[in-house]
Amino acid sequence: MDNAPICSIEDVSKLYRVKKGFFSGSTKEIKALRKINLRIGKREILGLVGESGCGKSTLARLVLGLEKPTGGRVRFEGIDLSSLESQGLKRFRKKAQMVFQDPFSSLNPKKTIFKIISQPLKIHNICPRNQLRQEVRHLLRMAGFNNPGIENRYPHEFSGGQRQRIGIARALATRPELVVLDEPTSALDVSIQAQIINLILDLQESKRLSCLFISHDLPIVEFVSHRIAVMYRGTICEIMPREAFVLTGDGTASQPHHPYTKFLMKSIPVPRPMANSHCEGAEHGPANQVEVVPVRTGEHREGCPFFHRCRERTGRCARQEPAPVEVSREHVINCHLFSPLKRSSKAE
Ligand SMILES: Nc1ncnc2c1ncn2[C@@H]1O[C@H](COP(=O)(O)OP(=O)(O)O)[C@@H](O)[C@H]1O
Ligand SMILES: [Mg+2]
Repeated sequence: MDNAPICSIEDVSKLYRVKKGFFSGSTKEIKALRKINLRIGKREILGLVGESGCGKSTLARLVLGLEKPTGGRVRFEGIDLSSLESQGLKRFRKKAQMVFQDPFSSLNPKKTIFKIISQPLKIHNICPRNQLRQEVRHLLRMAGFNNPGIENRYPHEFSGGQRQRIGIARALATRPELVVLDEPTSALDVSIQAQIINLILDLQESKRLSCLFISHDLPIVEFVSHRIAVMYRGTICEIMPREAFVLTGDGTASQPHHPYTKFLMKSIPVPRPMANSHCEGAEHGPANQVEVVPVRTGEHREGCPFFHRCRERTGRCARQEPAPVEVSREHVINCHLFSPLKRSSKAE
């Protein structure tokens, strides 16, 4: 894996101004992202995990240049996206594509699969017009369809998993370098999820793609990613290599982690062989006992964003926002529990 980032997210913030209520004329600010720093390496799959509403999709839209950050910058191959004019933006759009969460609403029901997949081919002049059909068939084969003539059908004739394959074929039509996958399997049956994950992994390898893989499902993110970033309320609280994300048999972590990451890890059901005496083979036991601390609504003002839910908080956490601490190589935790002195132990 090449270490030079294809995309770097530098001090990125995003504020939304929304009406306070339906009848209210006044507005309030929603801090969807707060000073995010991340990089996506070439040919790397960066997993992004966090609970619903923490800002994952907002970050995805910023990475793809679909929205502008309120603060900071997003660079693609070193170039600030906000500096791109129309031609530069078109070239960028060809290189960066997206796979959506919902395969049912992401494909236009009125268009055939041929029209859906050939559209980006035409916009970006990928191949001559007389070779469009051949190229669409090639892309569909790549996504696992072998039946000829399938491109003449409409989206409603396909299952959820098949539609997601079509979405993947469309995303790869422009021969992108970066693909953002926003919860690509959450709308699918568990039995189909594994097939789609394997397809994504095969294509990432063979097409040498860089990916931002977004999910709220930790085991899936752990399975696909080279590195994992954990997000909480618009901030990144931990970035770690996949190797650091190892669960021990009792669902606890074998390495140091942010209290929020530990909370997420403990929520994962752990396979417990022979959990029920009358069952043979491995069984999934109940989820680990997680002490649930209710989420406080309202805007976070100062201190650690996880302060209200943290069982390990101290007075300092209420006052001061923690800075990133590198606890081991490529493993960074934003938490006062970890001493910056540990930085010196990193392997250079
Ligand atoms: N266009 C928008 N206008 C106003 N608020 C938004 C908009 N998009 C997202 N938000 C808010 O930003 C926060 C993060 O949302 P989102 O990025 O969709 O989270 P996630 O993808 O992690 O579920 C949420 O509080 C959401 O309500
Ligand atoms: Mg989302």
